[in-house]
Amino acid sequence: MYLISGASGHLGRLTISHLIDTAKVPASQIIATTRKPETLADLAKRGVSVRAADFDQPASLAAAFAGADRALLISTDAIGRRAEQSATAIAAAKAAGVEHLLYTSMPAPETSAVLFGPEHLAAERAIAASGIAGWTILRNNWYFENLFFVMPQALASGSWYSAAENGGIAYIARNDLARAAALALATAKGRSTLTLTGARSYTTAEIASLVAASTGKPLGVVPVPVDGLIQGIIGAGLPEPVARVFASFDTATARGDLAQVTGDYKTLTGLDPAPLEPWIAANARGLLGQP
Ligand SMILES: NC(=O)c1ccc[n+]([C@@H]2O[C@H](COP(=O)([O-])OP(=O)(O)OC[C@H]3O[C@@H](n4cnc5c(N)ncnc54)[C@H](OP(=O)(O)O)[C@@H]3O)[C@@H](O)[C@H]2O)c1
Repeated sequence: MYLISGASGHLGRLTISHLIDTAKVPASQIIATTRKPETLADLAKRGVSVRAADFDQPASLAAAFAGADRALLISTDAIGRRAEQSATAIAAAKAAGVEHLLYTSMPAPETSAVLFGPEHLAAERAIAASGIAGWTILRNNWYFENLFFVMPQALASGSWYSAAENGGIAYIARNDLARAAALALATAKGRSTLTLTGARSYTTAEIASLVAASTGKPLGVVPVPVDGLIQGIIGAGLPEPVARVFASFDTATARGDLAQVTGDYKTLTGLDPAPLEPWIAANARGLLGQP
């Protein structure tokens, strides 16, 4: 039995699709755990076993994980609480007899300037120390889809305030990360750490130029120091801790923490990662913040 946590999230849903359609795992061998089972009625109808699980409620996990042989823990979005949540979920997977555990991490969590790197590193280390026989760490680089959060405001003013300097990010499509996660969940053996990236990295200026061409809107990169970026994000209405996390993405980018390109995606899936240019060209409306 193959278990996926966080099954109602964007990555979780896509991973289940790939598990069924790409990895050809029968729906009857899939356990989808989520805090919101009612949102997965379509999967239940297809034969997937949909179960309630919340990493903040350890008591929910024994029943949820029962019978799972291989399990993918999708990191949660609760930044600041994730080390504890992961520890709870890893212990529950071990107690349930999971033989191969997978986890969605981020590039270079040991050294990255991204402020939540230590949370992912803690999860990776807890998995290595868990006594579970096999594991695969999926160090996912930034999604193409992250641009949907950044671009609407930048395009509205024509100015993209950035502290990323000339650093690049090896963006990868969320759908590719779901394919990789599904195939690893279905087949990975032993113990490995994979860094999943796109085929090349892109600087902020390169992204701005591609987005301007796609949307027909002018977009200039305005270099700002990281403290100025934090103040700007606070000024836009976000709390300071959140502003510091977002700004740390730029610090990490400037340092090259997110620029590494690897062949791990191709080795795992046999495919080249989807290129960013056609994605940006096809998603002008979303980049403008339009439905
Ligand atoms: N690489 C990147 O660029 C990038 C970007 C954004 C996020 N991420 C990370 O990758 C994860 C998946 O991305 P996504 O696009 O699918 O994000 P998303 O759609 O926002 O999904 C959030 C996920 O967190 C799970 N979750 C939240 N609280 C939980 C809890 N208490 N117990 C168990 N699960 C919990 C949700 O599961 P249910 O709602 O089904 O319970 C859901 O799978 C995110 O949660 C985040 O850690 C990576």
